Amino acid sequence: MYSVKMRSSQNTSHISGAETICDMKDIEKTIQNYFKKGFFHENGEVDFLNLKIEKVTQPIQTFNALNIYENHTLNTLIQQSGVSHAALTKGRHYIQNEINYRGAIILCAKTGRRLDSTKERGVRVTHFAFENHSTSALSERVQDALAIATCISHHSHVKGELCISDDLSYTTGYYATPLGYHRLHHMKATNSREGGRIIFVDDSIHLDSYIAFLEKTPKRIIYNP
Ligand code: COA
Repeated sequence: MYSVKMRSSQNTSHISGAETICDMKDIEKTIQNYFKKGFFHENGEVDFLNLKIEKVTQPIQTFNALNIYENHTLNTLIQQSGVSHAALTKGRHYIQNEINYRGAIILCAKTGRRLDSTKERGVRVTHFAFENHSTSALSERVQDALAIATCISHHSHVKGELCISDDLSYTTGYYATPLGYHRLHHMKATNSREGGRIIFVDDSIHLDSYIAFLEKTPKRIIYNP
């Protein structure tokens, strides 16, 4: 199997990214799709596009995707998942401030104290593939988000994850817990590049091994509700 990744940017600012793990026979079709996705994007004109193909050498871990839910409010979900309002307020500040973190920020679910030391980089979930084995179609965007959310929540110390896309016209965010992926509508104004991903955890988590799992372990996420 091969890990195939794409990222595009303008003036070194990230525009678009995508990745999967596939058989050798599917690489060509995948990079064609990724070229279209990355080169023509509403976030701006692309002046750099990178395609990366790497043989997967570690065993791939398989996970069932979280179930998708609608119609919950963020406040209820936060409360049910054991995240304090103080932590949520701090999380929203990281999403709204002028810094565009390149990955997720990890906060203590009780106090909102930042636990990772990745500064403006953040922690990125990478080396994954999403497989839809259900009859219902999911947009590429939801597939990516569901795959990332499933990986993030696959740890006993994780309470929840709040994500708002930095795409200009996409205002639907989500809050995911180990029990489900909850879509949240109208999370920001349109035409805003504000966005980010916050992971709320119990602060006794072994951060190095959790981050290594998110960033390095090859992961396959199966959607079959
Ligand atoms: N957001 C912003 N910048 C990103 C980025 C992202 N998602 N991914 C990569 N970059 C930029 C950063 O400047 C990064 O340098 P850094 O490690 O110091 O932050 C640089 O590109 C190189 O990153 P690298 O991890 O080597 O890139 P890659 O080509 O191996 O993987 C992605 C690129 C986009 C596939 C991967 O990083 C990623 O984010 N995967 C998650 C899936 C995804 O993005 N889905 C789309 C929407 S949710």
